[in-house]
Amino acid sequence: MIKFDFNTYTNRFIDKDKYNLLINQKKEYIDKLYKSDMTGWMKKIEKEIIEDIEKTAKYIKDNYDTLVVIGIGGSFLGSFSFLKLFEPYFNKNFLEIIYAGTTLSSKYLDELLTYLEDKNFCINVISKSGKTMETRITYKVLKDSLKRKYSDEEIKKRIIITTDKEKGLLREEAIKEGYKTFEIPNDIGGRYSFMTPAHLLPLACNFNLQEIIDGYYDGKRYIDTAYQYAVIRKLLFEKGKVVENFCVNEENQLMFLEWLKQLFGESEGKKGVGIFPTSCLYTRDLHSLGQFIQQGNKILFETFIKIKEKESYISYNNKTLNTINETVIDSVERAHFKGDIPIIEIEIDILNKEEFSSLLYFFQLSAAFSGFLFDINPFDQPGVEVYKEEVRNSLGEI
Ligand code: PA5
Repeated sequence: MIKFDFNTYTNRFIDKDKYNLLINQKKEYIDKLYKSDMTGWMKKIEKEIIEDIEKTAKYIKDNYDTLVVIGIGGSFLGSFSFLKLFEPYFNKNFLEIIYAGTTLSSKYLDELLTYLEDKNFCINVISKSGKTMETRITYKVLKDSLKRKYSDEEIKKRIIITTDKEKGLLREEAIKEGYKTFEIPNDIGGRYSFMTPAHLLPLACNFNLQEIIDGYYDGKRYIDTAYQYAVIRKLLFEKGKVVENFCVNEENQLMFLEWLKQLFGESEGKKGVGIFPTSCLYTRDLHSLGQFIQQGNKILFETFIKIKEKESYISYNNKTLNTINETVIDSVERAHFKGDIPIIEIEIDILNKEEFSSLLYFFQLSAAFSGFLFDINPFDQPGVEVYKEEVRNSLGEI
């Protein structure tokens, strides 16, 4: 069960008349969402695709000890954040999954190549467009390393491409070389692609897909709440709260906040509007950004995502560490609210995969509604072309 509190710590900042006006327009916005041609992520994924993913994941686990996932942005953050959240911190009895291509670090790639020398690895390269610079460079470097060791026939077994159905360089290569492929549907953009093979294949290597899939579509029951969250955010923005600080109190949830930052940042930040998403890990960041949040420029509101971990045996002064952690977070909320920071609370009772998938769906709905409320298209990202053009001017076509 996901619990939402949009009220306790936002009340005094929200213009009630505007709130009621927007809430009364909910049906129009829901209709707009259903009419959009980029909402393939709301449609059920086909059974045959799930079977193919599961079969391929089994093949990977049976034949290799490491999977290298190459992708950036919406092509890696979903599965990576899920994995981080559900894998143990230590002693992982999981198929090793290494993510690459998320920066242009030559140090990382160099060390990765050395690390992979003794590994029996395969590659899943993921790019909807098939032309993303970081992905292409990393893929070429890793494929070259396979070429130094194996025949073309062997390489064919070790490369899986997830890309557009028809277009793009990766699709062309897959056809030419006969590589195994998965599709990212036309009507699903990168950051909304959690329920596609882009994320489900890496996840199927370590998790039971069915609970993830069921939980995801169950997220639809939160459609009204997702709209309400979008409305509250928009009204806070109108009060000058132009930064949303997503907060958690467990380190393994940080990558999920990166997913959220991409989802909201790329969906909303257009035509001079949008809320700037940022993130904090508490209590760590109470000893750094906490000062600013408490007493600095009042430009932000906070969204606390409280995902409860199982009770642990560790205790201090007759209180479990979990209780201390949760009590500290509740106290931080009250303190920040006293410092004029509106607070939204979203809580999952006990961490489980179904609820977490529902939460991803909820946020995707909210980001879409939010884009509509800001009167921008939440499904494109024209701004990222500007830096790419500058790169082309400096380096030519890569
Ligand atoms: O949300 C998006 O569409 C983007 O962030 C993309 O996911 C990102 O740029 C990677 O693109 P691609 O999958 O085409 O390599």
